[in-house]
Amino acid sequence: MLTPLKEYRNSDLKKGKRFNQILLATKNPGKVREFQKYFSELNIKILKLDDVLGRIEEPEESGKTFEENAIIKVLYYSEKTELPVISEDSGLVIPSLGGFPGIYSSRIGKDDGERISKILEKLKGKDKPERKACFVSVIALAQSGKLIKTFKGKVCGYISEKPQGNNGFGYDPVFYYSKIRKTFAQIPSEVKNKFSHRGRAIKKLLKYLEKIN
Ligand code: IMP
Repeated sequence: MLTPLKEYRNSDLKKGKRFNQILLATKNPGKVREFQKYFSELNIKILKLDDVLGRIEEPEESGKTFEENAIIKVLYYSEKTELPVISEDSGLVIPSLGGFPGIYSSRIGKDDGERISKILEKLKGKDKPERKACFVSVIALAQSGKLIKTFKGKVCGYISEKPQGNNGFGYDPVFYYSKIRKTFAQIPSEVKNKFSHRGRAIKKLLKYLEKIN
């Protein structure tokens, strides 16, 4: 059982020790693109796993929550470098399906197409209230094997009847966001970032980094 530290005060990230690069510990190119969009506006460079640690094996995501998995990933990678590291665990939660696919979002099929078909099949014939779905993102920040803080973001919408749009990744083509009356795959990433779970978690992270950096 993991006990996340609420705040890691004695880290090198404390006030007065500025840093200008962070390792983003993910192999998901869709996530990398979304993070880079945000950090490109700051003076912090996002480094990728390949650039820093080469072809490193991924840790087993054995946690029971997004937060536990984000922490498992960030601690694993941050033990291998002195750079500050961020990792993210995210997924789609469908309340009428008991939270499915949740932390298993990337594992319920061999590719995005198969994963989307699986949830459309489960929701076949179901009305709007049962099609409610939320994306959840938890970002964890650590340095030298010590957890500093986690940041959460969430956005809710509905699962559409069929996939629409070619932008984004994962479940974006079936995630219909009522506010803009489009799926996340029908809008440019700048717009998605404004509303998305990841965008919301990243904003909290950036606010924190600005404070301590
Ligand atoms: P993770 O890499 O274990 O965090 O897996 C996250 C999975 O959740 C992804 O592979 C997608 O299937 C899904 N997911 C997370 N965020 C998004 C998003 O912004 N759009 C679409 N699908 C997402």
